[in-house]
Amino acid sequence: MVSNRVNGVDGPLKGIRVLDWTMWQFGPVSAAMMGDMGADVIKIEALDGDAGRALSRASTMSLNLAGGRNAYFEACNRNKRGIAVNLKTPEGRDIIYRLVEGADVFVQNFRKGVAERLGIGYDTLREINPRLVYGSASGYGPEGPDAYLPSFDGCGQARAGLMMSATPIGAKVPARISQGVSDQIGAIMLCNGILAALVARNQQGVGQRIDTSHLSANMWLQGLGISMSLMSGTQFGAYDRNNPRNALANMYECGDSRWIQLMHLQADRYWTPFLTALGLTEVIDDPRFATLEERAANAPALVAILDRKFAEKSFDEWDALLRESGDFIYAKVQTIEELQYDSQVIANDYITTFDHPVIGPVKMCNHPNIYSETPAGIWREAPELGQHTEEILVEELGYTWEDIGKLQEAGAIP
Ligand SMILES: CC(C)(COP(=O)(O)OP(=O)(O)OC[C@H]1O[C@@H](n2cnc3c(N)ncnc32)[C@H](O)[C@@H]1OP(=O)(O)O)[C@@H](O)C(=O)NCCC(=O)NCCS
Repeated sequence: MVSNRVNGVDGPLKGIRVLDWTMWQFGPVSAAMMGDMGADVIKIEALDGDAGRALSRASTMSLNLAGGRNAYFEACNRNKRGIAVNLKTPEGRDIIYRLVEGADVFVQNFRKGVAERLGIGYDTLREINPRLVYGSASGYGPEGPDAYLPSFDGCGQARAGLMMSATPIGAKVPARISQGVSDQIGAIMLCNGILAALVARNQQGVGQRIDTSHLSANMWLQGLGISMSLMSGTQFGAYDRNNPRNALANMYECGDSRWIQLMHLQADRYWTPFLTALGLTEVIDDPRFATLEERAANAPALVAILDRKFAEKSFDEWDALLRESGDFIYAKVQTIEELQYDSQVIANDYITTFDHPVIGPVKMCNHPNIYSETPAGIWREAPELGQHTEEILVEELGYTWEDIGKLQEAGAIP
């Protein structure tokens, strides 16, 4: 096994064993995050594998890599070992029961009822290991009329309001954010819930089940806006860049067609210094823009002035000029392709290079948190289907080679 030790220290989840019975992105990424943090993650797949292995395109992007590897599966399943087990056989189920005895976490994202049908629902597994933390992901939550419905990324974005939040004012078609963000935030929340349950287990001695859904996670992603709207009785609403309340927290196109996002939420604090830096001193005392309220009332006129101003220089020229004060709050609007060249991404290793044994060195998005003493990172490539079945059964569960033959004959393992 590849070690995740760095300078003699292991990741924060060292010693935690995670059984990862998941597919596609939502469940797998939550377990991969625990693998990033040094947990021993064992992915459990059916004999024909996680359906995500067969995904060959994501939008316009080809997912095929050298050596028959797949970018989608590699990204969702790094830092895991893998076993293939047919859970529709009693022998296959028994393998999982034996694994559960020594596990800390079990994660799954199958449709409601599937785990129970296969004999690995929470009520069964807690009998075997009462301290088990059992994480479960669904589309719309464990209760309610739609608890049994299947769901993928776009369903979460649609139902939780995220698509409408991303849709610009006046657009006729709802906007869907690419990159599987709804699955990703679901995975992050599921991981977060499991980590808290591990603390509860250690502090209070209880195992428990945690449920997260596309709907809950994508609502929580917008939790501030949802709560504020409900409390105030008004709508948050999508941004209108041509008519913003605060023109200093708005986006503008620079002379080289690059966009700049300004974020001066304290509009009065920045009004005079920012307009001075832009060379718009004549606007500072313009009575139409004397207060925030008047600026909001006359926003289109102010945006037009700023549009003309930003068109005079390239982003880099504006950047150099605004940096001189060291105090203005803004960012370059970037594509994800540009991230690998971003000096902050490089300095903080947010994109890291992993030396994949089959593909060779590959760049991947790194674990997002930096631990000062117990590093997180990418230690191991995604497993091939059933790659560690025999290793785990024989070396860790005590099966003999004769047992392995019988399990194969019974169709429980490949
Ligand atoms: C992802 C999803 C849409 C897939 O739906 P699906 O392809 O119809 O799959 P289901 O979850 O209903 O069931 C999977 C099947 O695989 C079978 N299976 C899974 N692992 C198995 C194993 N190791 N051995 C044998 N059978 C296995 C299950 O028994 C089930 O078959 P059955 O209905 O005959 O019992 C659905 O599971 C779902 O909505 N999950 C929750 C939300 C989610 O995570 N979505 C994915 C986002 S990336």
